[in-house]
Amino acid sequence: MLSVPETDVMIRARGLRKSFGDFEAVRGVDVDVHRGEAFGFLGPNGAGKSSTMRMIAAVSPVTGGELRILGLDPATHGPAIRARLGVCPQEDTLDTELNVRENLYIYGRYFGLPKAEVRDRVEELLEFVQLTDKAEALVEDLSGGMKRRLTIARSLVNSPDLLLLDEPTTGLDPQARHVLWDRLFRLKQAGVTLVITTHYMDEAEQLCDRLVVMDKGVIVAEDSPLALIRTHSTREVAELRFGVAETDQGHEALAEKVADLGERVEVLADRLLVYGDDGEEVVAKVHERGLRPVATLVRRSSLEDVFLRLTGRTLVD
Ligand SMILES: Nc1ncnc2c1ncn2[C@@H]1O[C@H](COP(=O)(O)OP(=O)(O)OP(=O)(O)O)[C@@H](O)[C@H]1O
Ligand SMILES: [Mg+2]
Repeated sequence: MLSVPETDVMIRARGLRKSFGDFEAVRGVDVDVHRGEAFGFLGPNGAGKSSTMRMIAAVSPVTGGELRILGLDPATHGPAIRARLGVCPQEDTLDTELNVRENLYIYGRYFGLPKAEVRDRVEELLEFVQLTDKAEALVEDLSGGMKRRLTIARSLVNSPDLLLLDEPTTGLDPQARHVLWDRLFRLKQAGVTLVITTHYMDEAEQLCDRLVVMDKGVIVAEDSPLALIRTHSTREVAELRFGVAETDQGHEALAEKVADLGERVEVLADRLLVYGDDGEEVVAKVHERGLRPVATLVRRSSLEDVFLRLTGRTLVD
């Protein structure tokens, strides 16, 4: 087995826990994040992603277990850790009274960087997040996507070793998400270690080399997106949507009629998912049986299917 030198382990968590009063938001998480990797926490609302991220960012104390960031203990080395991290919190925390350039400049000065150095860095970052044209604009006049890009630029002011992104594209339209993904992809190519939380399976698939699937404060699976899909799902999925007449007999009854056509069948509120390696063949056989779905869709398995398999629930409800 390949052994990674300790210095290349950017984050190491063992049995990590976080409680709020009696409520346990994070219930024993083990992860190792290595230098240069893009690591994801994928899970639905309330899974404990942000709680975990905030402990990693050294802004929320650990309730139990062990946590080392860049080899340091956040309980004793918070400031040293924070100086080397870039953090994009889930909610934008930009200064709305300042313009775009000022937001970056002030933040850079917080880190104690010399004025001239910050000035150069700010222009470079504005260019990188494609906000040079908006440098003089007030934050409140920016679109959601622009605000997220500015937050990312701000998190890069101190040239961090490790960049933490909590739901970087939640609430953005598809085009804005793609622009952001492109910027994150470039950072990854430049060797920045990324830790991303998301409840979007496509985001996790696009950006993460490796990820953990989280649910209710625990990790239910860990691997590369491809390996997770291979281990926990079939190559393809046939989605069958039935009309009112047929659904009157209940989706469960319909599911029984097609159960043997795939490795497994999932019953969702509005459709059946039949898992098999050849989705078109499944659809053909459904028709041979005299069943008439009003709509069918054959697609590759995704992380959504992995989540459904592991938890019995969908990621985004
Ligand atoms: N400060 C707090 N006090 C009390 N409960 C909290 C606090 N922060 C989080 N929680 C609870 O802990 C659980 C996990 O929350 P967390 O924000 O970590 O989830 P998440 O995976 O980031 O979800 P989301 O996708 O909605 O951002 C939730 O049930 C939440 O209500
Ligand atoms: Mg969150």
